[in-house]
Amino acid sequence: MEQRRSVENAMRRIAHIWGYREVCTPTFEELELFTLRSGEGIIEEMYVFEDKGGRKLALRPEVTASVLRAYVNVGKTLAKPLRWYYFADCFRYERPQKGRYRQFWQFGVELIGQDTPLAEAEVIMLAKDLLSASGIAFTLHVGHLGFMRALLEGLSPEDQKKVRILLDKKNYDGLSAFLSSRGESDLFDRLTALVESRNLDDALAITGNIPGKERIRELFAILDQAGVPYTLDPGIARGLDYYTGLVFEAFAENLGAENQIAGGGTYRLAHLFGGEDTPSCGFAIGFDRVMVARGDIPATPVVRVGVAHTPEARDWALHVAAAFRTAGIRTESDLSGKTLSQQISSISRTADFALIIGRREQEKGSVTLKDLRSGTQKELSLAEAIAEVNGDDSCR
Ligand code: HAM
Repeated sequence: MEQRRSVENAMRRIAHIWGYREVCTPTFEELELFTLRSGEGIIEEMYVFEDKGGRKLALRPEVTASVLRAYVNVGKTLAKPLRWYYFADCFRYERPQKGRYRQFWQFGVELIGQDTPLAEAEVIMLAKDLLSASGIAFTLHVGHLGFMRALLEGLSPEDQKKVRILLDKKNYDGLSAFLSSRGESDLFDRLTALVESRNLDDALAITGNIPGKERIRELFAILDQAGVPYTLDPGIARGLDYYTGLVFEAFAENLGAENQIAGGGTYRLAHLFGGEDTPSCGFAIGFDRVMVARGDIPATPVVRVGVAHTPEARDWALHVAAAFRTAGIRTESDLSGKTLSQQISSISRTADFALIIGRREQEKGSVTLKDLRSGTQKELSLAEAIAEVNGDDSCR
């Protein structure tokens, strides 16, 4: 948990300096909130239950829908754009495996009420900064649904969705079989060429002119200017149904099959929840996957102090421990009531310093400070002992 908290705190710091403020939504919601737009995939993967009043509820499989509901309920009158972030657990009924859990945490961001390429670029840059703060190696893939839409125009909405799901799962055999069954075998070649194209001109040569082309160019120009390292990936289809244009994903370099550590894009949900049609853009980082990718990096060590005392010096020992804690030093009192030497030997297993408090120290108002690493020991005033431990930078 110390490792997780240190990464979480680093991410919170980044979100704050970008001007994003934390929001918190309920763990469960009316089922309908998610069935309205999040897509078939997520319905099958949800924990759904009825409460005593017969209402159909679901544990949140993601947080975007809840955040947009909160926006419609309480945020509509706030100055836009709204920059919000969350750190929340989500629940999906999936087959658990490494990096795929039924309860997992997302660190997510939603930028609500701004429809410009700069807003989209900001969200991608923030994703990059948040992932960099976690210390892992990753790649960013940025795409746009406009490319795929142009190629799939001739298919029914249901068939388009099937193609998107097959592409999202990278099931090319399934895709080929599905398109042949629809008499669209030619489309397979164009789709795979699109998925493999890695620059804008190649992608546009395959799709022809697409709506919003200039805007897409501007987004990529901003990313290039800002030096954001990314791969153009017109094959990104995303599993959720609500995306409208920009889509992007991040992948950890050292994970196996479940290597997607973040995903997001532009979407419109507010109007489904009773609000005005509002452009939004966001992403969520799979926090648990980031921690797996990070491996076992111990949290930054801190100086640890143990307090040993004789029975008659208990009150002074408690006072000394309190003063050390007030000074921000991690201080653990021995609670065993054993002999001083037994207490010191037990403290030496975990701490850097022992404070030894006996009758003499109690009478003089002093402390004996033992550096457990060097074995040296000296009697000091309380203030001197605190200064001595605070000045110890070997653990920082
Ligand atoms: P998502 O791609 O479904 O997007 O999830 C975001 C991230 O959560 C994934 O990239 C992955 O790292 C992590 N994740 C998903 N499922 C699991 C799981 N079972 N176990 C561990 N990690 C998992 C969304 O949820 C959107 N709400 C993102 C978004 C925000 N789009 C716009 N705003």
